[in-house]
Amino acid sequence: MKVIVTGGAGFIGSNFIIYWLKNYPNDQVVNIDKLTYAADLRNLKGTNKNYRFVKGDISDKKFVEKNFNDADIIVNFAAESHVDNSIKNSENFVKSNIVGVHNLLEVVRINNTRFHQISTDEVYGSLPLKSSKKFREDSRYDPRNPYSATKASADFLVRAYYNTYRIPATISNCSNNYGPNQHPEKLIPKTILNAYLGNKIGIYGNGKQVRDWIYVEDHCSAIDKIIKKGKIGETYLIGENGEQTNIDLIKKILKLMGKPNSLIEFTKDRPGHDQRYAINASKIKKQLGWKPGFTFNEGIALTITHYLENKNKYLPKVAQR
Ligand SMILES: NC(=O)c1ccc[n+]([C@@H]2O[C@H](COP(=O)([O-])OP(=O)(O)OC[C@H]3O[C@@H](n4cnc5c(N)ncnc54)[C@H](O)[C@@H]3O)[C@@H](O)[C@H]2O)c1
Repeated sequence: MKVIVTGGAGFIGSNFIIYWLKNYPNDQVVNIDKLTYAADLRNLKGTNKNYRFVKGDISDKKFVEKNFNDADIIVNFAAESHVDNSIKNSENFVKSNIVGVHNLLEVVRINNTRFHQISTDEVYGSLPLKSSKKFREDSRYDPRNPYSATKASADFLVRAYYNTYRIPATISNCSNNYGPNQHPEKLIPKTILNAYLGNKIGIYGNGKQVRDWIYVEDHCSAIDKIIKKGKIGETYLIGENGEQTNIDLIKKILKLMGKPNSLIEFTKDRPGHDQRYAINASKIKKQLGWKPGFTFNEGIALTITHYLENKNKYLPKVAQR
């Protein structure tokens, strides 16, 4: 198979390429990435001779028409991904996350290429803190910040192209990922690296917001199941019951690193901050037989070790933010 992965120099895309080449070493993988600030080609250590990189922007229609024609499958990770940046300026989010997906869908429509869209649980909005409700595939879309609004728009485009043109597409909406190769602008690497430096660790509001964490390799194995066994036209939610408050998460990391809670500093809350995300992943588990391979304790230990062992790669990025 020739697999085109977009956004493969970023966090989840790079983990997916490494996962794919390990499990399907004879497939050809082409990574097409614009190389924004969030990208790092050093993330692709461990790729083999069947891997190739092409620099390019999915919001450039001519580039997409020229470079996406001969794939067996396109897996689209490319996106502007940081909510805080979208609050400051969402123009690039609209370009990459909506226009980019539309360009890909046009090529997919013409060539009937298998397409998988990587999306987020944030399209479903926010759950009340004190409830046991979880997002399901039929939950109502309710994006509440510019990032999630652009991801929701992309999902609707994919669904509309399937409904109208019967393109062979699937969508997955995953909860918050953690693991190697994530940009230190994000909560977990930011906490680990600042704790290592002995810096203060900022936390929005009272820190009681709940996120449902999944180890990135488990996200990759779920995408694999959808590509191999998923039903065309369907959406699958991915998560592993990893719900915890941001404050508990940070305290756990500090404890594992032998650092004091006094490093925590409460800061002004993010505008429109979603309170709680939680995923009901029973569809992918029952229908496709997916199950996560890592507990949170295993995943976070691997993650802390990764950032500390590779600190020279990440520390300059902490300083930039
Ligand atoms: N990180 C999470 O917790 C999470 C959870 C669920 C879903 N997702 C989704 O997974 C995908 C990947 O997220 P991530 O955390 O790896 O993001 P990331 O920011 O680490 O990586 C995104 C990559 O996309 C590339 N890119 C951006 N715009 C592009 C464009 N126009 N053309 C080509 N490449 C472009 C960037 O250069 C970067 O390498 C995104 O679609 C995101 O919405 C992320």
